[in-house]
Amino acid sequence: MSTSAASQPSKDQLATKAEAWSALFSEPMSDLVKRYTSSVFFDKRMWQADIQGSLAHAEMLAAQGIIGADDLASIQKGMAQITQEIESGAFEWKLDLEDVHLNIEARLTQLVGDAGKRLHTGRSRNDQVATDVRLWLRGEIDLIEGLLSELQLSLVEVAEQNVEVILPGFTHLQVAQPVSFAHHLLAYVEMFKRDADRMLDVRKRVNVLPLGSAALAGTTYPLDRERVAKTLGMDAVSQNSLDGVSDRDFAIEFTAAASLCMVHVSRLSEELIIWMSQNFGFIRIADRFTTGSSIMPQKKNPDVPELARGKTGRVVGHLMGLITLMKGQPLAYNKDNQEDKEPLFDTVDTLKDTLRIFAEMIGGQINPATGKKEGGITVNAANMRAAAQKGYATATDLADYLVKKGLPFRDAHETVAHAVKLAQQQGVDLSELPLAELQAFNPNIEADVFEALSLEGSLNARNTLGGTAPAQVRQQIAKNRARLV
Ligand code: ARG
Repeated sequence: MSTSAASQPSKDQLATKAEAWSALFSEPMSDLVKRYTSSVFFDKRMWQADIQGSLAHAEMLAAQGIIGADDLASIQKGMAQITQEIESGAFEWKLDLEDVHLNIEARLTQLVGDAGKRLHTGRSRNDQVATDVRLWLRGEIDLIEGLLSELQLSLVEVAEQNVEVILPGFTHLQVAQPVSFAHHLLAYVEMFKRDADRMLDVRKRVNVLPLGSAALAGTTYPLDRERVAKTLGMDAVSQNSLDGVSDRDFAIEFTAAASLCMVHVSRLSEELIIWMSQNFGFIRIADRFTTGSSIMPQKKNPDVPELARGKTGRVVGHLMGLITLMKGQPLAYNKDNQEDKEPLFDTVDTLKDTLRIFAEMIGGQINPATGKKEGGITVNAANMRAAAQKGYATATDLADYLVKKGLPFRDAHETVAHAVKLAQQQGVDLSELPLAELQAFNPNIEADVFEALSLEGSLNARNTLGGTAPAQVRQQIAKNRARLV
């Protein structure tokens, strides 16, 4: 393409033809390169943040006398129309215009002329995109906080119904000691609470304004960056322009927090899957979260927890992708950073869907007729109890009982091992051995031993802060309830 006056694009064409960056370019992009370099079909989801950032920038430009009040009014009017067009689906997104920023700016110029062209004064797409991602992510973090609260609430509600339900606690997936099912669920509440705290902490570093860094070195216009930050509800202004436009550590941090949260979901999924298997039969989840088999008519498969476990790998993969994306980049902005979006968006989508579906699968859904939640997990307390009774879960309690009678713990441990061996030979639980047989192991054993050997006795004895005694569990439920509503 020559640069003679005759071949120059008209004013109107310029507004829609990003392939003609400037007079400097002598040939257009091939379709393949256009597709390869464009991001509009995924970054258009940040359109609201883009408009919000542009309006805050324009308002400040006008207040500083860099553009006229009439320009600002035109920009505001144009952006209102663009908002309407995007919301109604009438907006035409163009691959030629590369990304969400150029698409919106070009349409603005088409609508309001020169005022639209003035919007980009003192700004670059480099600080613009960094601002947009941060604004968008901040909104998503706030939604995720809400979903994490709902999931915790579901777990607390099921816990409330199951304080006295006893199942075997495991170490190495071998029966260890009996625990309250509520206590088990509350362990996940603690994990999700930390996940929520982590998200809030990440939010502080997300909510910082890079706009005003311009392309990389700052700008010659007298911008009021603090004013823009205030308009956008951001906590701070970035302090170094090179850093502001280039680092995506905030996205990496978010994805790390999301990965940990998914790891917690995945652990819970693993338990739900085990508990649902016929060999355990501890719980059932509602049919709408399961699928059948095309060949085995008796099957109900726990697809949702399995998929959540699988999707955890996907989110952890995004963390690896983002952290690797950053590692080789010299200052300042590089196009590599356009690759931050798809992993980040998919992380947010996956996490939100997962949290929403888990809150419902565990706690159920409100039935509008009764105003009560229905359809959460169903607990089979009898199967849990039978499993707890099977594996000598109260052996430690017998050892503790002997210690209280004056035996050193190591000796008590050994004595109980002999008692368990005898019970195993007879195919009975420790509590089913006659008193006389127990006394043969240690003469200090008295009839009150059976209280210690019972599942309830075992739980009640663990009445220290954080322990599984129902009294402790009830306190934790109350604490969490107060925090979550
Ligand atoms: N679409 C680009 C991105 O996502 C916007 C910034 C482009 N800046 C540039 N100098 N090419 O990062």
